[in-house]
Amino acid sequence: MSLNQQVTHLKHREGADTRTKYVAIASGKGGVGKTILSLSIGKSLSQNNRKVLIIDADFGLSNIHLMLGITPQKNLAHFFFGDASFDEIVVKIEEGFSFISSGNGIYELAKLPKDQILNLIRRLQELAEDNYDYVIFDTPPGIHDDTIAVVSSADFPLIITTPEPTAVADAYALIKIINKENEREDFYLVVNKVESDKEGKKVYESIRLLTERYTTAKVNHVGNIKFRKNLIRRIIEQNPFEKGFMDDVYNILSNMNLEVSPRRRGFWESILSRLIGR
Ligand SMILES: Nc1ncnc2c1ncn2[C@@H]1O[C@H](COP(=O)(O)OP(=O)(O)O)[C@@H](O)[C@H]1O
Ligand SMILES: [Mg+2]
Repeated sequence: MSLNQQVTHLKHREGADTRTKYVAIASGKGGVGKTILSLSIGKSLSQNNRKVLIIDADFGLSNIHLMLGITPQKNLAHFFFGDASFDEIVVKIEEGFSFISSGNGIYELAKLPKDQILNLIRRLQELAEDNYDYVIFDTPPGIHDDTIAVVSSADFPLIITTPEPTAVADAYALIKIINKENEREDFYLVVNKVESDKEGKKVYESIRLLTERYTTAKVNHVGNIKFRKNLIRRIIEQNPFEKGFMDDVYNILSNMNLEVSPRRRGFWESILSRLIGR
């Protein structure tokens, strides 16, 4: 970094909230773009000199490593069963940008013994608070206790859908359940694989109609991502950061104002109380 860049960086940091911020990316339906969006947001923040950790929390079918072509030697399951130290499971993508793979060995966190959950959460908290500006959770599709806990506790709960009616219905169902169970009201919405912004707006309007009528949730539509034919090729080549897609992601991030997080109860405390009821 040049001196000039360092000064701008410091100035920027002064105005910012320096606490670690938590972003949860969730959907009702699978295949809508959670993993690619998690990676692209991470990449974009990391290009902006933020330190980012992605937690692949798709405990049944983790796949961040597949998109990157980086096969971790050890994952969260190894840590859990005593076959890896905590440091061994953090995989570097680039300087200041890492991920943890959950592997395919842990199913529902919420079903594990309390002391194990507690130990895991404490270690993750230490790692996050000591080393990262942002932690992004790539959650599994559908409505699970773990996902509900992570999304309800996050500073930035981001729901992603596509214009497909089943995906839209499932996105609404997820928002409704989290709103009812945890009284969470603010959600961010991204519509992926759209043909035009008009199509994305229509999806948002249909979700807004339902949430306004049947819930107390307020959905903030922070942007759309266009369908990009060559993204699939890029994913096959395991170099998934496609320029057009990244441009849409910059736009989303600028609408989210990620530098300043709403003052909420501590993320990890909230997770703990939701998973083990303290
Ligand atoms: N904007 C897009 N344009 C084209 N294809 C996309 C787009 N977003 C996602 N995809 C495709 O959808 C697939 C599923 O995306 P992924 O991020 O794995 O979804 P999820 O994690 O929600 O299951 C990807 O393999 C990719 O091929
Ligand atoms: Mg995924």
